Amino acid sequence: MSVLLVGAGPGSADLLTLRAARALESAQVVVHDRLVDPSVLALVHRDARLVNVGKGPGDGYTQEHINLQLIDLAQRYERVVRLKGGDPFVFGRGGEEWLALRAAGVDVEVVPGVTSALAGPSAAGIPVTHRGLSRGVVILTGHGADDDHVVVTGLGRSELTLVILMGVAQRARLARELIADGRPASTPVAVIERAWTSSQRTRRGVLRQLGELDVHAPAIIVVGAVAALDLSETLALAGSSASVA
Ligand SMILES: C[S@@+](CC[C@H](N)C(=O)[O-])C[C@H]1O[C@@H](n2cnc3c(N)ncnc32)[C@H](O)[C@@H]1O
Repeated sequence: MSVLLVGAGPGSADLLTLRAARALESAQVVVHDRLVDPSVLALVHRDARLVNVGKGPGDGYTQEHINLQLIDLAQRYERVVRLKGGDPFVFGRGGEEWLALRAAGVDVEVVPGVTSALAGPSAAGIPVTHRGLSRGVVILTGHGADDDHVVVTGLGRSELTLVILMGVAQRARLARELIADGRPASTPVAVIERAWTSSQRTRRGVLRQLGELDVHAPAIIVVGAVAALDLSETLALAGSSASVA
């Protein structure tokens, strides 16, 4: 009994790893999330069973239910793929599924994917580290915050790039907390919606404006000096000797 935990990447199927593409082509069952792009699902063999366990608002799939379903499928099929957006181990609950499967005696292997945390910024021409601007990057979630819970602490004063997943709903609060924590209100921000899909869109501004930006999930929020860059523009201008300051 075994399950492959496969990263589907952020969108377009040509960002899958070769290992992931092979796993999809040979799977008998593919249990997938809501955010997995149709171009990725199109690689699944036509005789395979597709099971959508996307946890949208109001649908009944709890993590517990998904774990049990995976165990059940592993007992009935030889080649089961659990397909998760981006990378299974970056806010994908892949670790929980791994533990639940192992506890039930099911072998698990992971196939890493291109995470939206890094591919989202790059889709907008933003390098998350850049000599002279950012010496490192922190990936965090804006999800799960309630009134008593501070989303960000100790990251305000640092100059690290912040990449925030699941932060759209809490963006005004994230900005307030970061500014209170010492990050200048004039720090550049960028929000990249649906990166690497045909409906990708980027909004830019500064930290004090983050709450007012018209943005929609799923999106990646980038906070830091690099968020002002758009290297795709710079490259287009390279012939006319433009450079990044
Ligand atoms: C549950 S997390 C899963 C992250 C995933 N495991 C990964 O590595 O990309 C879902 C969040 O990822 C981000 N996300 C996933 N795909 C995205 C995309 N194509 N464009 C922008 N953000 C994306 C959004 O912040 C979304 O709310």
